[in-house]
Amino acid sequence: MTQRANIAIIGAGLMGHGIAQVFARAGSRVRVYDPIRAPLDALHARIEANLRDLDEPTDCLSHISGHADLAEAVAGADYVFEAAPEKLELKRSIFADLERLAPSDAVLASNTSVMPIGTIVEGLATRERMLGTHWWNPPFLVPLVEVVGTPDTATHVVDQVMTLLAAAGKTPVRVMKDVPGFVGNRLQHALWREAIALVAEGVCDAQTVDMVVKASFGRRLAVLGPLENADLVGTDLTQDIHRTVIPHLDRTPGPSPYLDDLVAQGRLGVKTGQGFRTWTQEEAQDLRKRVFAHLRKLNAAERGPGGSNDTHSGGGS
Ligand SMILES: NC(=O)c1ccc[n+]([C@@H]2O[C@H](COP(=O)([O-])OP(=O)(O)OC[C@H]3O[C@@H](n4cnc5c(N)ncnc54)[C@H](O)[C@@H]3O)[C@@H](O)[C@H]2O)c1
Repeated sequence: MTQRANIAIIGAGLMGHGIAQVFARAGSRVRVYDPIRAPLDALHARIEANLRDLDEPTDCLSHISGHADLAEAVAGADYVFEAAPEKLELKRSIFADLERLAPSDAVLASNTSVMPIGTIVEGLATRERMLGTHWWNPPFLVPLVEVVGTPDTATHVVDQVMTLLAAAGKTPVRVMKDVPGFVGNRLQHALWREAIALVAEGVCDAQTVDMVVKASFGRRLAVLGPLENADLVGTDLTQDIHRTVIPHLDRTPGPSPYLDDLVAQGRLGVKTGQGFRTWTQEEAQDLRKRVFAHLRKLNAAERGPGGSNDTHSGGGS
């Protein structure tokens, strides 16, 4: 399969439109399905705005079409990437529809953040062509895609998707077991759980947690993974540190009661103006812009001085 594949994206939201952008920039023809009119109507303008922000050409927009009919969107597809809301029953029913409507040799992938792929495709007849591809937001700036097969996924399907993603400029990694949260979200939410516990226990406030991360190990994380770090300091020192600290780390077997209280109070974060801290819309917008600019800078640095913006938008590999 070449990188100029026929791609269908299910869901034109935050992730779906960005994944469509990556494949269109890589030369593929991309059809995007959404049952809701507004995200479909906004699809081209949203991608165009991203491309302009990135100083990238917009000619790939002509490779992308929006569809309100699922059968039409997946007709002739080589690969289907599902990026619908994170609800198990919805994803299960979408995969049942895809099995019926997509070409019988099309590869069907879910972008679920944390659900085991096996629970989404359970009971379907052609599970050998179904797998997870977990992208990160924004898909056109964050390189990683976790590729997750179930015990039923054919090895050649996983290989084929790894090749497709690499050809589109992504950094695909193979996850060997279909566990909840895969690799990235298990690591990320282990950190969030401890961050919430520190605030709940009054060790420090939310701003301090964020400052500690951003001004210390967060600075190194893009070039120094945790296990590289453990090797640098020595596994013996790591063992000594773990003997002292691990018994004190949070092990609440579910969402923290502190988090439950925030949600019960309607403190939902940026969208309600209050979460762990208070937010104005301007502050939230400013933060999003800073994240975007930071990711762009990292990608430019990886491309090096001779690197061109006029390649696909995969974000470097
Ligand atoms: N937001 C992130 O940072 C992020 C990162 C990685 C993975 N994900 C996962 O990607 C998926 C999509 O997340 P998102 O943030 O893009 O959500 P979103 O709400 O922005 O987009 C979801 C889209 O799906 C559409 N939709 C609703 N019902 C549908 C149906 N029956 N069929 C097809 N589309 C339907 C909605 O209209 C909406 O446009 C979720 O599984 C999410 O967990 C999200």
